[in-house]
Amino acid sequence: MEKDPIICTCLEIKQSTIESAIKEKNLQTIEEVQNETEAGTVCGGCVDDIYKILEKINGSVKL
Ligand code: FES
Repeated sequence: MEKDPIICTCLEIKQSTIESAIKEKNLQTIEEVQNETEAGTVCGGCVDDIYKILEKINGSVKL
């Protein structure tokens, strides 16, 4: 299994980029991740994966 997969294939944004943004800026919502990293702003196909990363880091996801 690849350690740092690309989560957002539209913009080639890696998992580590999203995780760092969440941790450094204390992001809570998918919208905050979208504003910060632009992941999930093109086709929206990676939004579920962003949700899972938020959940993993924060324990739960605010909507
Ligand atoms: S895969 Fe992330 S917006 Fe399309």
